[in-house]
Amino acid sequence: MEHHDVIIIGAGAAGLMCAATAGYRGRDVMVLDNAKQAGKKILISGGGRCNFTNQKVEPVNFLCSNSHFVKSALARYRSSDFIELVERHGIEYHERDHGQLFCNDSAKEIVSMLLTECEWAGVQIRLRTEIKSVSKNCDGLYEVVTDKSHYSCQSLVIATGGLSMPKLGASPFGYHVAEQFGLKVLPTTAGLVPFTWHSEQKQRFEPLSGIAVPSTITAKDGTQFSEALLFTHRGLSGPAILQISNYWNPGEAISINLLPGKDARAEIKQLFDNSPKQSLRNALALWLPKRLVEALFDEALLNRAVNQLVHAELEQLALDLEAWSIVMNGTEGYRTAEVTLGGVDTDELSSKTMEAKNVSGLFFIGEVMDVSGWLGGFNFQWAWSSGVAAGQAV
Ligand code: FDA
Repeated sequence: MEHHDVIIIGAGAAGLMCAATAGYRGRDVMVLDNAKQAGKKILISGGGRCNFTNQKVEPVNFLCSNSHFVKSALARYRSSDFIELVERHGIEYHERDHGQLFCNDSAKEIVSMLLTECEWAGVQIRLRTEIKSVSKNCDGLYEVVTDKSHYSCQSLVIATGGLSMPKLGASPFGYHVAEQFGLKVLPTTAGLVPFTWHSEQKQRFEPLSGIAVPSTITAKDGTQFSEALLFTHRGLSGPAILQISNYWNPGEAISINLLPGKDARAEIKQLFDNSPKQSLRNALALWLPKRLVEALFDEALLNRAVNQLVHAELEQLALDLEAWSIVMNGTEGYRTAEVTLGGVDTDELSSKTMEAKNVSGLFFIGEVMDVSGWLGGFNFQWAWSSGVAAGQAV
């Protein structure tokens, strides 16, 4: 049996960060992963440029059944700490909208930075390793049996992520370990995910595929995001939709403002006053792509001149533009979701160390926990912060 102080299962964002942190403390760390490559999700993230964190990270940017849980770890390892690490490794980056930070060149740089940190910290990593079982023996040590070896350790860290993107090797492994040790796992669902059309909507809106417009989208609970909305063959996507999907429940309508930052009534009144004879079709095309206008409104209505519309019709028009209410069929699910909502209940874990309150030496970090971030680098920041919190405690 091979003994290590710490075994981390999962060589993703959180696992590698935790491993380097623990290694620098002089702990003997082994990372095990069944994939061929470490950090596969990092490699494909942010369109290959990895949105590795955000300039402004606040607890409000995270969903967790205990909204206070994330505070301690995020305060102790901030986005500025990760930015400093990135700069120390000479990785060039840039800022996009809403404070999102991306590599200039490639996400590969983030993976190689983490692997270099692990190497400097003396961490061992074994890939292509199938975990057969995990248990705790009568001496209080964890035993991990794999297809290649039999390990024991004092601290076992589960960093196996969530269920999103099964083709990248996502698995429910972490949830099973939690349940095996009596920890509660909250129901999981796909997050940061596109919506799909009902069949009748598909017929009407599929031709709009590729159109992107600015929007403000509001979920039933009042949560709102102002970002781009994208029409696709399968449904609605774009940053605004991915964000709102985290706050959506099946069957609920979402409300889409297609004129964000404008007062629809005032704009319509101006049209009425300034271009009364213009057709509604041409008038609306000043604000929205013509194909979208034609899909949203009745042909006969669009052919009428603006001054032929009665007050009630103008009111309805303003409402349709400002609060287009639509009930989508569902989401594309884990196949394309960027994150998994739900997971290991944070009430079972210490917010300072990520250790299970009732199972000493067992830690959960990253996406496997019931913590999910908004789009914009927040999920990686949680992986870094929770990884460091556990790395300082194992
Ligand atoms: P992660 O999934 O990274 O790692 C888990 C590791 O565990 C993997 O290496 C896996 O192989 C291993 N594993 C799983 N089951 C196992 C088993 N049974 N045995 C052994 N090993 C096992 N976030 C962000 O902040 N900015 C971004 O730009 C993006 N972009 C993005 C794009 C796409 C397409 C996706 C799918 C996701 C993102 N994300 C993101 C989200 C981000 O990738 C995610 O939140 C983190 O990778 C989570 O880090 P973890 O280390 O927790 O899991």
